[in-house]
Amino acid sequence: MRIDIISAAPDLLESPFNHSIVKRAKEKGLAKIVIHDLRTFGLGNYKQIDDTQFGGGAGMVLMIEPISKCIEVLKAERVYDEIIYMTPDAKTLKQSTANTLSLQKNIIILTGHYKGVDQRVRDKYITKEISIGDYVLTGGELAAAVLVDSIVRLIPGVIGDETSALTDSFQDNLLSPPVYTRPSTYEGMKVPEVLLSGNFPKIDEWRSEKAYERTQQIRPDLLDENM
Ligand code: ADE
Repeated sequence: MRIDIISAAPDLLESPFNHSIVKRAKEKGLAKIVIHDLRTFGLGNYKQIDDTQFGGGAGMVLMIEPISKCIEVLKAERVYDEIIYMTPDAKTLKQSTANTLSLQKNIIILTGHYKGVDQRVRDKYITKEISIGDYVLTGGELAAAVLVDSIVRLIPGVIGDETSALTDSFQDNLLSPPVYTRPSTYEGMKVPEVLLSGNFPKIDEWRSEKAYERTQQIRPDLLDENM
């Protein structure tokens, strides 16, 4: 899978993609992540990429020309399945979105900054808009890093334990059940007996029950989504 990210602050993306699972996916050739500095496509000697908004108001808006130039260069090289814009004024990222995107071949992610992008960029190019939650970040870079991580870990072969990504929280709209490791007793706190029993059908049943209980307590809204 290839992911092109267009950003006005590309330095912010260095670290997240050079560690852990995303790094491993890149090294194994399962994911290629290419970061494009929007300023390279800026206008004039000053490589301008933003301007004040028409109608007045605080904050700068990313201009359409530099973004358009960058997207057109990429589109001339390959076909993209999605062109995604990270923005707080969009539907929230869900596990199902990450699942679907992990099956794509080429995607572009555009990150906003300042007051966002000229609406005409969204009208002309964007096929999907994603927010990572109901709060406002300084820019879309960290949001893009979250999205990429959620996608890349689902690509077959990226995580060593093949079944583990599919048994995560949210894969069936349930939170994960509690997990334990050694020691089996710590300061009098015991690991539930069933987990030590070796009876795997019983263990599965216990985990399902706990997942349901936890979801009901913490995120009952997820149970409504199952109906
Ligand atoms: N850019 C700024 N805030 C954001 C958010 N919550 N989600 C996605 N992109 C953003």
